[in-house]
Amino acid sequence: MNIFVTGSAGFIGFHLCRKLLSQGHNIVSVDNINDYYNTDLKLARLEILEDEKNFKFDQMDISDYEKLATFFKENDFDIIIHLAAQAGVRYSIQKPFAYVESNLIGQMNMLECIRNFKPNLKNFIYASSSSVYGNSSTAPFSENQKTDEPISLYAATKKSGELLTHSYSHLYNITATGLRFFTVYGEYGRPDMAYFSFTKDIMEGKPIKIFNSGNLQRDFTYIDDIVDGVIKIATTEPKHKNKVYNIGNNSPVELKYFVEVLENEIGKKAITEMLPMQAGDVYRTYADISEIKKDYNFEPKTKIESGVKMFVKWYKDFYG
Ligand SMILES: NC(=O)c1ccc[n+]([C@@H]2O[C@H](COP(=O)([O-])OP(=O)(O)OC[C@H]3O[C@@H](n4cnc5c(N)ncnc54)[C@H](O)[C@@H]3O)[C@@H](O)[C@H]2O)c1
Repeated sequence: MNIFVTGSAGFIGFHLCRKLLSQGHNIVSVDNINDYYNTDLKLARLEILEDEKNFKFDQMDISDYEKLATFFKENDFDIIIHLAAQAGVRYSIQKPFAYVESNLIGQMNMLECIRNFKPNLKNFIYASSSSVYGNSSTAPFSENQKTDEPISLYAATKKSGELLTHSYSHLYNITATGLRFFTVYGEYGRPDMAYFSFTKDIMEGKPIKIFNSGNLQRDFTYIDDIVDGVIKIATTEPKHKNKVYNIGNNSPVELKYFVEVLENEIGKKAITEMLPMQAGDVYRTYADISEIKKDYNFEPKTKIESGVKMFVKWYKDFYG
């Protein structure tokens, strides 16, 4: 297949492209390589992808409609996997407009370009987030429940992305599949996420910041499981015109236990600094994955202990 991936220098985009390329698909891709986190890591990911002859990359900001429109006109692709976004809950307090540009204008530009230049696109697969569930007291979180009480701007922009897509799907007959990712972790991961900074700090003997006394739960989902799920969706005839799925591990882990697993793997005790709950953070995430299981036979396979083992091994190799 010919696939357009946005955010290919990002964590999930990189792994997804790598797997798709190994399966013989052709990829055209964009990323603006912004400096939200260390760009060396983004460039290192790209360097690996650029070794493959059927990988094409353009450095571009999807909030620039004219450039994106030119890209759409000049490239052929059957499906889009749209991952480019301003991620992170805490940063949305410092830099709110980064979220408006990448997640609202960016999503809107993608939809307009599909409408104008690729009306026969097979599937517009795009990233949403578990954060749309806010502090819902009903768990596991199912796609049928209400998601109109986001507690961070990040979540609000992700939910808005789903709504913009819903209206465009309805108006212009665009086939779209939204994926609510649940705390994805693994090799080449995001340095802004807790599992990554905890690893760094434990290794360097620095204190790790534990919010809400570690009484938080996250449905950590290993990157290879996410990639397998996204590829199943990308390579299967869509089951619905417009649908949003949870894609998570269905097995939440207490933060306290997560730190223990990390300590065991690193072979060193963490120094902890206890802090109150952070603005915008949710108490728990827990994916009900029955819908994606039913439609795509999605089955996460990686237990937290083995996922962390692979991550820590990579971290040691990569950073010496
Ligand atoms: N990793 C997770 O746990 C998680 C959880 C929920 C949702 N998501 C979503 O999944 C997607 C991928 O996340 P990730 O973890 O790989 O994040 P990431 O930050 O590593 O990747 C996103 C990439 O998009 C690029 N980008 C941002 N704004 C852009 C713009 N305006 N134009 C072009 N490129 C732009 C960034 O440079 C980055 O390389 C995002 O949409 C994110 O919101 C991720």
